[in-house]
Amino acid sequence: MGRRSPRRLLSLVKSSAPGKIILFGEHAVVYHRPALAVPVTQVQVDVEVLDSDSAGVHIHAPMVNLNGELNTLPADHAIGSVILKVFSALGISTSPNLNINITSTIPVAAGLGSGAAVSVALIRALSSFLSKPFTDEQVNDMVFEIEKLHHGTPSGIDNTVITFSKPVFFIKGQPIETFKVGKPFTIVIGDTGVPAPTKESVGDVRALWQKDQDTIEKIFDQIAAVSLSARQAIENGNPESLGGLMNQNHALLGQLTVSSPELDSLVEAARNAGALGAKLSGGGRGGNMIALVTKETAESVSAALLSAGAKRTIVTKVS
Ligand code: PMV
Repeated sequence: MGRRSPRRLLSLVKSSAPGKIILFGEHAVVYHRPALAVPVTQVQVDVEVLDSDSAGVHIHAPMVNLNGELNTLPADHAIGSVILKVFSALGISTSPNLNINITSTIPVAAGLGSGAAVSVALIRALSSFLSKPFTDEQVNDMVFEIEKLHHGTPSGIDNTVITFSKPVFFIKGQPIETFKVGKPFTIVIGDTGVPAPTKESVGDVRALWQKDQDTIEKIFDQIAAVSLSARQAIENGNPESLGGLMNQNHALLGQLTVSSPELDSLVEAARNAGALGAKLSGGGRGGNMIALVTKETAESVSAALLSAGAKRTIVTKVS
């Protein structure tokens, strides 16, 4: 028998995280009103961490044009700071030699939670690779801290839905609650293609609130009532009634000035093509909208959105 040449086995750990979409309650959720969000599993981030023969932590993340070593990144780099946070939480002072590959099919800065998904998958893969996997609660807390660095005053809904990968009924500062889907339903997500930093729209809503708290609080209360009715409809297996609630929620978000001509025209195109209702989703001003459809109308609504200027559509079943 010939001698095998000594060959070091590479260790490899992989982790994935889905995208997310907010169904109801965005913006008001920053002010402790309830919101509903669900994972979007048609898109995801994949992270692999493996041993490297060369010194340092080499990161390859083509979706953000990153191919470099950790120490060469600016201190506030989104991915670099996640890695350093994991090292510090694990008490690692000398970086191990690693290759980290990150790929994603979640559109960046489009309200689908791409940043939080990268953080969740990266923290899980890295902590498992280093033989100290964090619990879901620890991952969720860490990602929330990272979201705060990049988004100012996030509610925490993105990190929660993505970490637990379940439909979430979310109230800021309260224990995580998931909800049951009594009867599956389908939504079409339409992307305006307009990049819209959530931090800006959240800041603008805050400015409105500071100017006229009574009026804005009333709008938040109306949004809260819509979110509560939506949860009931979903749990009671009556998703058809979500259409009207989406339309109400969209109008209330318009009053908060976070819609845009592009969002309004996609919402209208979806309704005209037979959607049961439609609304913007997430921070607004750009990014995504959602439309409630049936099996029969999913394709025509999706086509109508594309011809009304949507950059892409995703059809997703909530179940
Ligand atoms: O733009 P997105 O999908 O990340 O959602 C932002 C949702 C807001 O309610 C506007 C802000 C937040 O932190 O909840």
